[in-house]
Amino acid sequence: MTHPRPQVLLVTFASQGHINPSLQFAKTLINNGVHVTFMTASSTMHQMAKTPAPQGLSYAYFSDGNESVFQLTGDINRYLSETKSHGTQSLREFLADQGTLFTSIVYCTLLPWVATVAREFNIPSTLLWFQPASLLNIFYHYFKGYEEMITKNIDDPTFSVKMPGLPPLSRRDLPSFFIPPTPHVVPLQTFKEHVQVLDQQTKPRVLVNTFDLLEPQAIKAAENCYNLIGVGPLMPSAFEASKERREMEWLSTKPERSVIYVSFGSLSTLAKAQMEELAKGLLEAGRPFLWVIRESGGEEKEGLSSQRELEKQGMIVPWCSQVEVLSHPSVGCFLTHCGWNSTFESLVSGVPMVTFPQWVDQGTNSKLVRDVWNTGVRLTENGVGIVEGYEIKRCLEMVMGSEEIRKNAMKWKDLAKEAVQKGGSSYKNIQAFVEELTNDPS
Ligand code: UDX
Repeated sequence: MTHPRPQVLLVTFASQGHINPSLQFAKTLINNGVHVTFMTASSTMHQMAKTPAPQGLSYAYFSDGNESVFQLTGDINRYLSETKSHGTQSLREFLADQGTLFTSIVYCTLLPWVATVAREFNIPSTLLWFQPASLLNIFYHYFKGYEEMITKNIDDPTFSVKMPGLPPLSRRDLPSFFIPPTPHVVPLQTFKEHVQVLDQQTKPRVLVNTFDLLEPQAIKAAENCYNLIGVGPLMPSAFEASKERREMEWLSTKPERSVIYVSFGSLSTLAKAQMEELAKGLLEAGRPFLWVIRESGGEEKEGLSSQRELEKQGMIVPWCSQVEVLSHPSVGCFLTHCGWNSTFESLVSGVPMVTFPQWVDQGTNSKLVRDVWNTGVRLTENGVGIVEGYEIKRCLEMVMGSEEIRKNAMKWKDLAKEAVQKGGSSYKNIQAFVEELTNDPS
């Protein structure tokens, strides 16, 4: 059967780090003639729906049992459990009503239950994975034999594990959920469910926000179990963010590659003592900086003892258009928590990184940045779990002064651009996916 205009239901988790790339994927599908219904949790959709949906896109929502604005700063175990139970029920009701419309369902990281509901309605589903291919490999191996060995040995300071397609990983390079006693039982269970759901198909196709040349070993190593398809970078073009903001004007007054951009994504927050050390490090580095301190995250610039000096040397904002900032020529370095979107956005913009991973996949992303792509260095904590100001200054100087790191960063920028251009690997992979949607053999 051919579908002249395939209809895809794209279901995504409610956090910024998932909404951004999934919206971008939706736009790419629309540009290729696919109609997309974009579904996320009601708490976020109520905010999104205040502005009209982009052309060709319809909005829908599932319940996450939380009628206020999405906030993951609370109990992630509870949030994920409730999302699954309420979401399963409301997706069933939605599909009972409108399921025949859809040719296919694309579901994203943290929502494996969507695939289970799709099966009940006989609608084919595909996972769109928002972490590097390497992470899917790690989860696969963890749940297929490595779990016991990792749990037993993780407290040994010399411990490292070698999995296919990956560099040797020590404790700090592994997903935080593997480190016992993990308080994050439900996220770990959710990743296990992802692997179990994928196990129900033979060599399932997984769309990944990466590109083929960025992770060739990880993609190859997964060949026996998954068909990993790079469709990235999935991020808004810097030119889409057109509103002139005060930080963009400020950046334009700074010399080329002189500014340090500092941000910890949409979820992580730093303890007060760590914020003070970061402020010290930035002041001692003596360079202009743009620091995002989110108002909603419980962090506040007013509490910093050196607030006045900081605002003389740099600029502090509650939020910015990160893709636009990273593509500004005056940005020379990104001090990042290494969430996958931030990491990928930095790679795509050719900006070297100082990494300060917090949790989830960030330690692994940082390992790849430092040892595989060679575009940055990682900060080291002192004995009591704080990164001190002098260490921050040392790493910033090292990265901003390294010609080799800068050259590598530019190399990845060019390769990422090629991947999404006409004829590039991600471009072709998306075309092939759309073709399959159009020529569904059923
Ligand atoms: C979460 C997890 O923490 C992360 O580890 C995982 O890889 C993805 O999901 P988050 O912590 O929000 O994401 O970080 P990140 O993946 O970097 O996503 C943040 C997004 O918000 C990026 O697309 C970034 O461009 C955007 N952002 C952030 C802004 O646009 N402006 C800001 O001021 C800060």
